[in-house]
Amino acid sequence: MTGAGRVAVVTGGSAGIGYSIAERLVGDGFRVVVLSSSEGSAEKAAAEISANGGTAIGYRADVSDRAAVDAALASARAELGPISVLVANAAIAPQRPFLEMTQEEWDRAIAINLTGTFNTVQSGLPDLVEAGWGRVVLISSSSAQRGAPRMAHYAASKGGQLALTKALAVEFAKQGITVNTVVPSSIDTPSVQKKRAAGTIPSAEDMAKYIPVGRVGTGEDIAAAVSYLVSDEASYVTGQTLSVNGGSFIG
Ligand SMILES: NC(=O)c1ccc[n+]([C@@H]2O[C@H](COP(=O)([O-])OP(=O)(O)OC[C@H]3O[C@@H](n4cnc5c(N)ncnc54)[C@H](O)[C@@H]3O)[C@@H](O)[C@H]2O)c1
Repeated sequence: MTGAGRVAVVTGGSAGIGYSIAERLVGDGFRVVVLSSSEGSAEKAAAEISANGGTAIGYRADVSDRAAVDAALASARAELGPISVLVANAAIAPQRPFLEMTQEEWDRAIAINLTGTFNTVQSGLPDLVEAGWGRVVLISSSSAQRGAPRMAHYAASKGGQLALTKALAVEFAKQGITVNTVVPSSIDTPSVQKKRAAGTIPSAEDMAKYIPVGRVGTGEDIAAAVSYLVSDEASYVTGQTLSVNGGSFIG
């Protein structure tokens, strides 16, 4: 099995896309470490995901807090052993017209989405280097490819992940480590459903009209792409952006 008992960390694995990724990687045979910033949610998700077999453990950690990430990964190593796979998925997706955006709002989006990615990857990567094998997958957003009104902070943080992917891919290519980005678009997660209920984004049916495959995506669609990128078979794929978007934005 692909995972072969290797340890995979999924940030933001307590809900939405991250939950689906964590679930899929447990199914693939990885021992999964779920990180999340909200009290008890990582532990709860890990217990649910491993209820029917496999291993998942959860730790509370805000990815923008480097000390918290280091502490969580140290606990994970002590419990499960060295880390082989890092999936940086945790993010916030706030909306604010650009001219009304405060410096605090800008800083928070960058701190969680981009610096949080840096914290996660830099904290875990020494294990991958030591082993001479590893997989890093960042979860970006189509807003980095085509823009997003009222989400300049979010789009900028997600664009930073695309550049970080390329920089790390070439820096660690000779060490058996691949670094890739999955770019989701229009994925039906609880946080997206909340925005729909608040009327800040269109209904799933309306969105589907503009998506060539005729439906919005699921967490499982993203998890399947991650599952491939972290496999042994994907060793010649690095520095790439895999857009999982139903054909919406070709390019
Ligand atoms: N849903 C979509 O349509 C969509 C589209 C494009 C990109 N994405 C990206 O996919 C990823 C997941 O999106 P989602 O819709 O599942 O989001 P979500 O809001 O449903 O889940 C986010 C997860 O991240 C965690 N989290 C939030 N802030 C955190 C922090 N500071 N530290 C640690 N954990 C934190 C939350 O607890 C939760 O587990 C994000 O990177 C998002 O930008 C989603």
